[in-house]
Amino acid sequence: MFADIDSANFNIDVCDIRKKITNKTKAILLVHIFGMPADMKEIRELADEFGIPVIEDACQAIGSEYHGKKAGALGNIGCFSFYPTKNLGAFGDGGMLTTDDDNLAEICRALKGHAAGKNGAKAYAALYHQDIPELKDMRSVSEGNLYDPCKYYNYFIGGNSRLDSMQAAVLLVKLKYLDIYNAKRGMIAERYSKELKGLPIDVPNTATDDRKSCWHQYAILCNKKEELIQYLQKNGIGAGTFYPVPLHLQKAFKQLKYAEGDLPVAEKVCRKSVCLPIFPELTEEEQEYIICTIKHFFE
Ligand SMILES: Cc1ncc(COP(=O)(O)O)c(C=O)c1O
Repeated sequence: MFADIDSANFNIDVCDIRKKITNKTKAILLVHIFGMPADMKEIRELADEFGIPVIEDACQAIGSEYHGKKAGALGNIGCFSFYPTKNLGAFGDGGMLTTDDDNLAEICRALKGHAAGKNGAKAYAALYHQDIPELKDMRSVSEGNLYDPCKYYNYFIGGNSRLDSMQAAVLLVKLKYLDIYNAKRGMIAERYSKELKGLPIDVPNTATDDRKSCWHQYAILCNKKEELIQYLQKNGIGAGTFYPVPLHLQKAFKQLKYAEGDLPVAEKVCRKSVCLPIFPELTEEEQEYIICTIKHFFE
């Protein structure tokens, strides 16, 4: 089941989650969209009330904070993407899961590598509360074992989601700069919101005391979305729309039989959202040019 979003920050609407929870609901899966953390306190309270876990899609929210705590550390498990366009982007694909649950961590470590070897054995032990005899004899080959006792065994069906070492090396270097990069994005967002106020558009609130966005995207709502994007593109500004089609109307979910009008806020945001360029290297002159071009459009 999909829940609608809140028009204030485009994140999942907690009241609508409550309406959608049934006895079949296995978890609450939320996205900190564009980097702005969702209403985690209320979501956690709801999840506790129904005894279900919370999965954070923090792919756009690396470095974002909610009441001083990082996104990805607010639910039972956090999911991150290191796709090159992300705030912490690799040189290719990559990702990360975060959890403070040791058993869940064992299971995830196993799943990323075909649930084979020591990781698979430990996850099996955690999942089925069983002793794995081969885990008790972890002598290496040089210490007398003929072969690694777990290595060529698969304990359940996993996949290959290993983070490539080359990507990890790139990420380790870039990680040191993440806070600086995010702060620069924050300054650009503040400037946009300050200078675009008063135009016939909705601008994001940057003065959010209880949470801090990493400003993966800066999205305004505009009734003339297509005309504005065309105008900006014609003037050499790479504006785009995230996202043109809401999840419940994607073909991939047609079996769920949603129709237009079912999630009106998500549909409205998809109809009106325009994402402005935001990245740490965007110069002050470029920001000025973008702001002036938008003002010209409305003149
Ligand atoms: C919110 C969100 N979730 C998930 C993903 C998927 O990440 P990946 O492409 O690394 O699997 C993305 C990437 O675009 C995203 O923005």
